[in-house]
Amino acid sequence: MSITRIFGETTWRQAIPRIFADLVLVHVAALTSLAAVAIWQSLTPSGADPLRLYAAFRRFYLESFLPQSALFPMVFLLFGFYHRYRTYTLANKLIVLSKGATVATLLYLFLSFLVDRSDHLSRSVSLAFVLLVNVFTVGARLLKMLMRDAQAGYGAFTKTVEAAVVHDAQDKAPVLVVGGAGYIGSILCRKLLAQGKRVRLFDSFVYGDAAVRELFGQPRFELRIGDCRNIQSVVAAVSGAGSIIDLAAIVGDPACEQDRAAALEINYAATRMLIEIAKGHGVERFLFASSCSVYGETEELCDERSCLRPISFYAQTKVDSEKALLQAKDGRFRPTILRLATVFGASYRPRFDLVVNLLTAKAVREGVITIYNGEQWRPFIHVADVAEGFVKVLKAPLDVVGGQIYNVGDSRLNYTLSQVAAVIQKLVPGTKIEQIENPDRRNYRVSFEKIRRELNFVCSMTLEQGIEDLRQAMVSGQIADYNDPRYHNQRYLKAAGRLASQQEVDAQVMAAFSAALTNQQALVSDTPLEFPVRT
Ligand SMILES: NC(=O)c1ccc[n+]([C@@H]2O[C@H](COP(=O)([O-])OP(=O)(O)OC[C@H]3O[C@@H](n4cnc5c(N)ncnc54)[C@H](O)[C@@H]3O)[C@@H](O)[C@H]2O)c1
Repeated sequence: MSITRIFGETTWRQAIPRIFADLVLVHVAALTSLAAVAIWQSLTPSGADPLRLYAAFRRFYLESFLPQSALFPMVFLLFGFYHRYRTYTLANKLIVLSKGATVATLLYLFLSFLVDRSDHLSRSVSLAFVLLVNVFTVGARLLKMLMRDAQAGYGAFTKTVEAAVVHDAQDKAPVLVVGGAGYIGSILCRKLLAQGKRVRLFDSFVYGDAAVRELFGQPRFELRIGDCRNIQSVVAAVSGAGSIIDLAAIVGDPACEQDRAAALEINYAATRMLIEIAKGHGVERFLFASSCSVYGETEELCDERSCLRPISFYAQTKVDSEKALLQAKDGRFRPTILRLATVFGASYRPRFDLVVNLLTAKAVREGVITIYNGEQWRPFIHVADVAEGFVKVLKAPLDVVGGQIYNVGDSRLNYTLSQVAAVIQKLVPGTKIEQIENPDRRNYRVSFEKIRRELNFVCSMTLEQGIEDLRQAMVSGQIADYNDPRYHNQRYLKAAGRLASQQEVDAQVMAAFSAALTNQQALVSDTPLEFPVRT
């Protein structure tokens, strides 16, 4: 954290006047409640001597309340009054404010009781104090909005309320998951539904619908079957969506090599079209599934500001899409790019073209696994943790995640392929490991510090747990034949033939969005992509 910033874009210079104003309000609340109770007590028939009451309250205020009142701004800060709060909807603002004010007051009363060991404050003063701190902190902010409204003369407060209504509506509107029927999406959709979200799944079911069939007809689940290259289907899917998660792609180096033309359309041109349609519909929150393979081959630990050196067509399409997203970013469109580590683990759409899954399957069925080179590093992440990462970003305030790039993974899950093989050998006893040299030198270790620091994201699943689940799925017969083309993107596409656009007009629209690529800067990026940097 920089010393000039609290969190997000708020600087201390902006926050200190607000902290000071809140401290003044708390003191006014304390003095008002003391004065009210003093007046009340001196007016009762058996009333206390006003001078004695004044002296007691004065001593309490100067010796006890004044030093201990520093607690209030600290609690307010923790509740996000000076940073996160500012992006919230009106309803959420009011909730956060009154929660923060109540917790701070109760903590203060408890602290004051512990420190002073005496009951300075009668119950009536305490109650009045809790109420007044609430009224003053909330009231002052409402008043400020109304004054701004009057000054501006065009309804700033009304606009805030309208914006709040729009935000609340967006929160309640469905999350559109494009490509949600795949390996990651089939888990993510279930997770979102389990969290009470409305989910609209958009997919062309390249690999079938088996992974999501049990969701059909569920409340809060909507299905839109369509190709992300077809403008009409995409417009219909985006219409009314509150946020978008874009997972649709031809995934993996071999699959993209199998059909480069389709990969360029689906992974890049369709992403650009989706961006434009999202902007046209006022969808601000857009989460894009990118890949840590954008870093290519490097000995250094890569973070979000590292240079991008994609060494495959697949990774190249991800770099280009990231650029398109960052170029499209503005005050009303705030995309977040998630660069995923290499995924492993069991899913409703199993994939055995991913290194950990494939090696585990080979160990279980054939008792032998082959490692090429072996010393190259890769970052790994369990598929359930990937889904959790998307949920975290989806729920995070937009001023924190909007326009940002996050590596999604966990530093504890950077492994060499030889280490992965050793773990598999331990869990599938008797496995023989063969080592072969080949020219694939993709080697990268990735830092996941930013997502841990800003969103408190850490992986809950270990490599061992993922391998053990897969082993059991194989042993129990759940996976009969791991070589089935359904579980391998490239094999499946090879068998299915070209994934050309269905209609001539789609091909033309895609050509238009791909063509713009040539007008951009060189695709391979020796510089990091630019996004608002938080230190
Ligand atoms: N799995 C990984 O290791 C990994 C790693 C890094 C990034 N990613 C990214 O995560 C995303 C999801 O990956 P996955 O592993 O779930 O892949 P997947 O191949 O299992 O799923 C892709 C989904 O996209 C859909 N799709 C493909 N073309 C489409 C089209 N033209 N129109 C509509 N839908 C279409 C497919 O039907 C499928 O459901 C991808 O963008 C991928 O690049 C995955």
